[in-house]
Amino acid sequence: MKTILITGATGNVGSEVVKALKGKRVNVVAAVTELEKPELHLPADTERVRFVFGEEATYAPAFQGVDAVFLLRPPQISDAKHLINPAIDAMRAAGVRAVTFLSVQGAQSNPLVPHHAIEKHLEHSGLEYTFLRAAFFMQNLSTTHRDDIRLHDDIMIPAGNGRTAFVDVRDLAAVAALTLTGEGHVRQAYELTSAEALTYSEVAQILSEVLRRTIRYPHPNVVQFWERMHERHQAVGYVLVMTALYAVAALGKAGHLTHDTKRLLGRDPLTFRQFAQDFASVWEKAPA
Ligand SMILES: NC(=O)c1ccc[n+]([C@@H]2O[C@H](COP(=O)([O-])OP(=O)(O)OC[C@H]3O[C@@H](n4cnc5c(N)ncnc54)[C@H](OP(=O)(O)O)[C@@H]3O)[C@@H](O)[C@H]2O)c1
Repeated sequence: MKTILITGATGNVGSEVVKALKGKRVNVVAAVTELEKPELHLPADTERVRFVFGEEATYAPAFQGVDAVFLLRPPQISDAKHLINPAIDAMRAAGVRAVTFLSVQGAQSNPLVPHHAIEKHLEHSGLEYTFLRAAFFMQNLSTTHRDDIRLHDDIMIPAGNGRTAFVDVRDLAAVAALTLTGEGHVRQAYELTSAEALTYSEVAQILSEVLRRTIRYPHPNVVQFWERMHERHQAVGYVLVMTALYAVAALGKAGHLTHDTKRLLGRDPLTFRQFAQDFASVWEKAPA
């Protein structure tokens, strides 16, 4: 049976990829940074191996006997050349055949994002690769921006009236599972979006309807955004990256939709409304 290693297995996307592979005739191994950490997002019976980008001693044992890897760049890592690419070389040396890499929309033409260097490295690695160039995750609203909505009933994102192409992480994971287990995906790049590009006023409207209370989009400027992020003790580097991404959205450059998700899954992608309904409990206010 084929063995598939999932990096970032405890995160938003990786944990969904583990779930999406359950029930398929493959052996799934979760790469985790701490073996003993209780993982809320991983099924208890998931096989685990310790793997840390930058700790080279963890590479060979993790890749031993692995046929395919789901590769995810942790958001904290920006130096792909020194921290991710050597791991790709170690995969090849250990006999891994194929890699599905979670990239980002536009990575092929934007050398500023770390995914660009990773894509280039994979192209020359001798590995069979598939790129999943993802749009903006709907789940950013239920994770990074959850407390804006939960505690303040607002969305504090400096994206003006620009439209954003969203994708549900569960659809991404379903496509990842397909590429890791199926045929015909070698040297392919898929641009994964849902069928909707929404403004944050529209996002606020959908959330208001689903949560049955008013969620506002106050069109915050960058200073207001930074103040909120500062209140929540977010790391400066992370806030800088978000500021740049939301500036792109404000300029109307983040709304590009494709049909790849529908074509690959053979069904309509999940909508933002469906996402909001499924995750509604995370925005419930804590009991008084
Ligand atoms: N957010 C978006 O809208 C969006 C859109 C397109 C693409 N992306 C890309 O998606 C990726 C983020 O995915 P995500 O949201 O699933 O991330 P996430 O939830 O933050 O999870 C990160 C994962 O990486 C692991 N990790 C952290 N440091 C590590 C290290 N040094 N070595 C090995 N593993 C490590 C974490 O493990 P621990 O739990 O042990 O720390 C965790 O499992 C990024 O590359 C991002 O650019 C995001």
